Amino acid sequence: MIATQHVTMQLEAGGEMVRILDDVTLEIPDKQTVAIVGPSGSGKSTLLGLIAGLDRPTSGRIWLNGVDITTLGEKAMARLRLASIGYIFQSFHLIPTLTALENVSIPLELAGDTRSRERAGDLLEAVGLGHRVSHYPVQLSGGEQQRVAVARAFACRPPILLADEPTGNLDSATGRQVIELIMALHRDVGTTLVLVTHDPQLAVTMERVITIRDGRIASDQLTDGPHNLSDSLS
Ligand SMILES: Nc1ncnc2c1ncn2[C@@H]1O[C@H](COP(=O)(O)OP(=O)(O)O)[C@@H](O)[C@H]1O
Ligand SMILES: [Mg+2]
Repeated sequence: MIATQHVTMQLEAGGEMVRILDDVTLEIPDKQTVAIVGPSGSGKSTLLGLIAGLDRPTSGRIWLNGVDITTLGEKAMARLRLASIGYIFQSFHLIPTLTALENVSIPLELAGDTRSRERAGDLLEAVGLGHRVSHYPVQLSGGEQQRVAVARAFACRPPILLADEPTGNLDSATGRQVIELIMALHRDVGTTLVLVTHDPQLAVTMERVITIRDGRIASDQLTDGPHNLSDSLS
């Protein structure tokens, strides 16, 4: 379960304090699929970053599976993040000096997996990139880089997967493949999925759609999903 309670985030911009998130309270049960939508600048990425413990809220609390992460030290947070959270960025964020295999191996190595390279190879095979293990990010297309990023995010079989506009830099056909891959791994691993998207067609394939406006939850609705993306397009 992910829970936030009265989460507020204020940052200084141009000498002024700006309230980016304002009293955000929500609960996301295990294994739920959630779309977060809303205008650009409404605070979606900020919220996702707070849930991942990449940043701390100005006030309020955030729990991941009963642990209040707003009180954790940096080391404990890093450990929890490694074990519990997969994160997928719009712009892939692979390490450019490492091969696809090495990029996927890293979280496994950090988690102490003694067969990290073999497991990373299996994961790349599973995302259809068995023939690209020795390629560097610059040698891969955008869709291929995002599939490596998906393999990396799921490597430690995290209970929580956060994806910030994972298809934002991809053409629609490639984006669909990446979503289908994320959904397949979500079902396989049983992870909770929180996905920020601008794509209304994609949003309604999730079980729940939360709309953020000006840093506040403007609406929070269950869909009659989960749906298959291909069903909603046909
Ligand atoms: N580090 C920061 N310092 C100041 N303002 C920021 C910072 N990060 C984000 N913002 C501002 O916070 C608002 C919300 O940003 P963000 O969460 O990235 O929105 P979204 O992902 O919904 O587009 C925006 O107005 C953005 O300019
Ligand atoms: Mg954003």
